Amino acid sequence: MGTAAAHADVTALHDTPWISLPRPAPVPSEAAAWLDDLDPKHIPDGRFDAAPGDVALGVTALLAAAKTPPSGWQSWLAEDCASLADGFARQVGAERVSVRLDRIDDNACRRIHADVAVSRMVCTYRGPSTCVVPTSAAGAAAQNPDTYDGPFVMPERFEAAILPGTLSASPVLHRSPRIEGPRQVRLLLVVSPAGT
Ligand SMILES: [Fe+2]
Repeated sequence: MGTAAAHADVTALHDTPWISLPRPAPVPSEAAAWLDDLDPKHIPDGRFDAAPGDVALGVTALLAAAKTPPSGWQSWLAEDCASLADGFARQVGAERVSVRLDRIDDNACRRIHADVAVSRMVCTYRGPSTCVVPTSAAGAAAQNPDTYDGPFVMPERFEAAILPGTLSASPVLHRSPRIEGPRQVRLLLVVSPAGT
């Protein structure tokens, strides 16, 4: 029994085609609750290019533009995005990064695709996570990108997943999750090397 479970875990690990950036500390449950309770119109949405050391300032500006109600968790979000962007930049050797905070209330990229980039980091802060095609199903998904509907593996909430893109040796296929209902609004961080 124990052996079978361990075997299943190992299989799942090898079928997960992304690299996760380690987090220095777990995300506080209060931060998750703050994100979940935000009125969708106050969820930050926008993009900018910056050196990793300036990402927190950029996120703070997006929060101000969204008129997000004052909360101590705003600075947590800005610092968290900056920390993940810095980790990604070090991983790929980028001096500047392109940062997107996407407020998503529709089905976004429903078609199976790989991003046109060497690699991109995605982290879901709110709502369902990106649907990633497991390695074992990549062939079937590539043949039917408009109709493939699973299986998928999904990064955990707050997991920073680096997805290799079309300019890498092994692009990772994925699509956006389905959005169910008007209150289910996602907040997704996407970080790429600037200029890609
Ligand atoms: Fe994508």
